[in-house]
Amino acid sequence: MKIAVIGTGYVGLVTGVALAEIGHTVTCIDVDPEKIAELNQGIPTIYEPGLGEMMLRNQKRQRLHFTDQHRVGLDGADVVYLAVGTPQLADGSANLRYIEQAAMDVAEHVQESVIVVIKSTVPVGTNVRIKQLMLSHVRSGVTIRIASNPEFLREGSAIHDTFHGDRIIIGTEDQETANVLEEINAPFGIPVVRTDVSSSEMIKYASNAFLATKISFINEIANLCEKLGADVEEVAKGMGLDHRIGSAFLKAGIGYGGSCFPKDTNALVQLAGNHHHDFNLLKSVIEVNNHQQRLLIEKMLTRFGSLSGKKVAVLGLAFKPNTDDLRESPALVLIPKLTELGAEVVCYDPIAANQGSKWISAPAVYTNSVAKALNDADCAVIVTDWPDIKRMDPQTFARLLREPIVFDGRNCYSIPAARKADIEYYSIGRPDVIPEVSK
Ligand code: UGA
Repeated sequence: MKIAVIGTGYVGLVTGVALAEIGHTVTCIDVDPEKIAELNQGIPTIYEPGLGEMMLRNQKRQRLHFTDQHRVGLDGADVVYLAVGTPQLADGSANLRYIEQAAMDVAEHVQESVIVVIKSTVPVGTNVRIKQLMLSHVRSGVTIRIASNPEFLREGSAIHDTFHGDRIIIGTEDQETANVLEEINAPFGIPVVRTDVSSSEMIKYASNAFLATKISFINEIANLCEKLGADVEEVAKGMGLDHRIGSAFLKAGIGYGGSCFPKDTNALVQLAGNHHHDFNLLKSVIEVNNHQQRLLIEKMLTRFGSLSGKKVAVLGLAFKPNTDDLRESPALVLIPKLTELGAEVVCYDPIAANQGSKWISAPAVYTNSVAKALNDADCAVIVTDWPDIKRMDPQTFARLLREPIVFDGRNCYSIPAARKADIEYYSIGRPDVIPEVSK
């Protein structure tokens, strides 16, 4: 099957590479010539474990190509995937400008009838609108069939998720199109669910909204545990063993971030509102998350009274481990607030340190050395549960910090380990650890 993929961002690049890996001939198209130049040299433009090797392998096999020319990329394509961004507009709704532009580019250049597959997360009804838009611009005789095929991959494990997903959703208007999509995806060996286009679009939003709800739910339980002297880790374990609940996405912390949950929950609230439905539950999920991102500041102010003149080591900038992505990271809320309160901030991140000043205008120092960040600081704040931070002996804090005080937004250490290390330790939904001398 000859496939074109429009957009070489997270979803587009991973999709293109994975489709080439399972045997298709793929051309990825992007309007950014610099990105295409890098990709053509075999350099992946995103940080994603396993992607680089797979990309190179398929470029060498001549199954994977990159171009900034739509005419070249779309030539002879049987199927075109649209995988451009749908960022958030000021009112929370999804910005469909890029997907509309991509659709117009396809309409302008395709010479033969094609199937257009929308991978991007789009509000219910978008696939049908995009089809109409394209039909009004294609040359006569060309037919367009559409398919909604949302992705469920996570950043940092995108390749793994693509090959080991729980399901592949295919939403079409006719069975013939679904047959083609099912055939394309057959080598993945993942169960396929066929549905109508609107339901497929909704499955993506509902899935992300539900996962965000689980996180906000456990975060609220964590906040209550702190007040009642319970331990949220124990509670989550006890809840998760019930198969009806499941143990995934019950990790309490400083809230969800990233390019998806915040954007998609807002977009669903907005979509509901546009149809005179007040999605109160999801509004609360968002509100809980916004509060959760500020929680560590509250804990620090309770402990110190004032943060003015305090040197604070922030560990982690990325919204989660194994990515260099800072979009909607709790660090973007925390660091400006700390500097506003007069703290001097030194931030550590193993991969994203060089991105800090691009995203955060507040004055802060960025380093990829954990020791440099901790050295002589008044306290440490953990934002991202990077493996090297989790693996670190908590006694390191006692050794390097001016005062061994740690605010852990990711519950990286067990309470006994924190006690043993003799550090003052404030985490999420668990009892505070205060060494005898500090009491
Ligand atoms: C999420 C979904 O998990 C994917 O299925 C989906 O395809 C993707 O959005 C998307 O719509 O493109 P992603 O944003 O990469 O993937 O990240 P997750 O691993 O889901 O984590 C999201 C946020 O939730 C992170 O900030 C993470 O730290 C937080 N989280 C996750 C928790 O606070 N607790 C948990 O138990 C799990």
